[in-house]
Amino acid sequence: MGSLPIPDSQFAHLDQFPMDEAFMIMRDFALDTHPGKVSLGAGVYRDNDAKPWVLPSVRKAEQLVVQDPNIDHEYQPMSGHPPFVPLAQELTFGPLMASLSNRIVTCQTISGTGANHFAAVFLSQVLSAKRVWISNPTWGNHHLLWDISAPQVKQQLYSYYNAKTCSLDFDGMIQTLDTEAQPGDIILLHACAHNPTGIDPTPEQWKIIADVCERKRLFPFFDSAYQGFASGDLDQDAYAIRLFAERGFELAVAQSFSKNFGLYGQRVGALHIVVSRSEVAAPTQSHLTKLVRGEFSTAPVHGARIVTQILSDSSLRKQWYADLQVMSSRLKDMRRALYDELRRLGTPGSWEHIVDQIGMFSYTGLNAKQVARLRDEQHIYMMASGRASIAGLNTSNVAAVAAAIDAIVRAEQQA
Ligand SMILES: Cc1ncc(COP(=O)(O)O)c(C=O)c1O
Repeated sequence: MGSLPIPDSQFAHLDQFPMDEAFMIMRDFALDTHPGKVSLGAGVYRDNDAKPWVLPSVRKAEQLVVQDPNIDHEYQPMSGHPPFVPLAQELTFGPLMASLSNRIVTCQTISGTGANHFAAVFLSQVLSAKRVWISNPTWGNHHLLWDISAPQVKQQLYSYYNAKTCSLDFDGMIQTLDTEAQPGDIILLHACAHNPTGIDPTPEQWKIIADVCERKRLFPFFDSAYQGFASGDLDQDAYAIRLFAERGFELAVAQSFSKNFGLYGQRVGALHIVVSRSEVAAPTQSHLTKLVRGEFSTAPVHGARIVTQILSDSSLRKQWYADLQVMSSRLKDMRRALYDELRRLGTPGSWEHIVDQIGMFSYTGLNAKQVARLRDEQHIYMMASGRASIAGLNTSNVAAVAAAIDAIVRAEQQA
């Protein structure tokens, strides 16, 4: 009597949300039964046998962690696993710790994605920012993340990539920021190994970016997902963050331990906020802690323990530095091998950008049609934007990948 009809489902109005492209490529690659298939899609490190690589330092540290009779599974403080937090700070800020340590506010997060999410929630609320400036292009998840975490903040794009020269559009970037950015806007900067282009500003260009941020009173927010993984040198990869911190900016850093420790599934990360006065640190920390409480209460501890074990033991730390060299050198070697092979084949076009770029990814310059043909005809998988994960290359497949690119580029030229 008078009761409402029961709908068949209260979720029936939902459309299928498109799957994330990187994960779609992983699924399609897994379904492909061709023996010569190559995955250049996912942003994960692979060894020369195309296998996941557990870093020797991580393997050893994990054994020590699980064998430690004093380890328990208690909740950690809301700011994170206590010994992990200063080590994470030290990795990011290095020698600046001496002057900054009482002005850095940190909470452990659910890896780099969680740190990005927290930064978006926290900065948008606390700074009442109206806009966030994001590079065009950027890691695809940045857009979704700011959409979900801070829908009231308008996402604005600054120019970053010149498709004609496959290089940084530095003038375009500076001009956009100079003419359109407003005081109080947030600017999202990739600390190193820009995803997806693999193109970073030079130290001189970083200084000019810092000048614009100062002039326009922008709040710098660094996404640091590849420290040590990019160049093999932790200090070099933290250059931009430290430059800004040294110049006295208040800033935020989203730090991921996924790539540089190969701890993808453990979800280890941290969000750091540098404040200009030490008195501001405690209240800032309390607001961050409140957010943690309201979202996940305390962060997972196992991965943080592994990182702590490595960073606080000098021989394990040394091993980790060597592991970083193994990964970054292999990526550099594969860039060179792909470039050399394309040159040897005389593949039309200029391919220098492949060796000039840095880190996990190369923005190859291949277009969406060429990428589709590589997948359908050659069983080689990469993002439609032409982003290739260099980690998917190895000494057994690089010649075949170059030959496939050569065939596709030539076929298009003849059509
Ligand atoms: C630019 C950038 N930021 C953040 C992340 C976050 O990674 P995770 O959540 O695995 O730490 C990634 C991962 O690919 C990335 O490329």
